[in-house]
Amino acid sequence: MSKQHHGYDEAFMLGLEWMWGEGYLSPGGPAEVAKIVDDVSLRGCHVLDIGCGTGGADIELVNTHLAERVTGIDVEALLLERGRKLVEQKGLSDRIDLQLVTPGVLPFDDDSFDVVFSKDSMIHIPDKQFIYTEIYRVLKPGGWVMVSDWLGVSSPPSDVMAKWLGLVGLDFILETIEHTSEVVTKCGFELRDAVDRNQWYTEEMLKELDSIGGKNFAALVRAIGQDAAKQRLSSSTAKFEVVKGGELRPSHIRAHKPG
Ligand SMILES: C[S@@+](CC[C@H](N)C(=O)[O-])C[C@H]1O[C@@H](n2cnc3c(N)ncnc32)[C@H](O)[C@@H]1O
Repeated sequence: MSKQHHGYDEAFMLGLEWMWGEGYLSPGGPAEVAKIVDDVSLRGCHVLDIGCGTGGADIELVNTHLAERVTGIDVEALLLERGRKLVEQKGLSDRIDLQLVTPGVLPFDDDSFDVVFSKDSMIHIPDKQFIYTEIYRVLKPGGWVMVSDWLGVSSPPSDVMAKWLGLVGLDFILETIEHTSEVVTKCGFELRDAVDRNQWYTEEMLKELDSIGGKNFAALVRAIGQDAAKQRLSSSTAKFEVVKGGELRPSHIRAHKPG
C-alpha cells in the first residue's frame, strides 16, 4: 500500500460493496444511515460527508432524509469515480458533489455547512482533536455533527486484533468512545449522544460472513478473483473475533454547535 493509495483498490472496493450494498463501503446500509441521522431534520440542509467513499450514504441523505445538497469528500480518486457514476445514475448530480481532497485541513470556509456527517471513515484520521476542531469551524452555528466511527478500547491489541489489522492493511487508528466524547466537548460542541454499536455489529457480522463464505464464496471469487476473495474472507473472519471480543466498537456520535 503506497502512501498515496490508501488501500482501496478496485477488488477491495467491490468486495466491500458485495457485503454491504451498492455505494456502501461500511456496514448497515440505509438503516444504519437512519440511525446516525436519528431525529435530526436534514430537510433543506447542506451536508458535508467526510470520507464519502462510493456515495451510497449521500444518495440516502438526499433521497430519504431530504438534504438539499451534499458535498462528499474523500482521498481516493477511484472511489469518487464510482460514486459519481452512481450519483449520476440516480439523477442527483446537481445535488451531490463528490470532491477529491488531501488529508488535513478541510478545504472549506468557516460556517459553510448545516450538518457534517461521516460514516466509518474517521478511523483513518489519526487526530480526533484536529478533525473535530475542523468540523466545528466549517459548521454554521446551530449545526449538527453526526458520525459513525470505528472506535476501540484502550488496552493493547490482542493477537487476533493484530492479525486483523495486518490483514486489512489500512491506516486504522482506534480511539475510545470516552476519549472521542471528551474531545467533542472540548472543541465546543454540546454532545447529545455517544452510542456504542458493538452489540449490533456483532449480530450484523453473521450476515456479513454469510454473504462471502459457504455457498456464496464461489460467486465472490467470480466477482473479484480468488486472491481478493480469500483475503476478504480471512479479514472478515478475524474481524468477527475482534468485534465479538469487544475490541472493535463502531459508535455513533451526535453533537450540536451552539447557535
Ligand atoms: C470504510 S470507508 C467508508 C466510506 C463511506 N462513508 C461508506 O460508509 O460507504 C472509509 C473512507 O474514508 C476515506 N478516507 C480515508 N482518509 C480520509 C481523509 N483523511 N479524509 C477523507 N476521507 C478519508 C477512504 O478513502 C474511504 O472512502
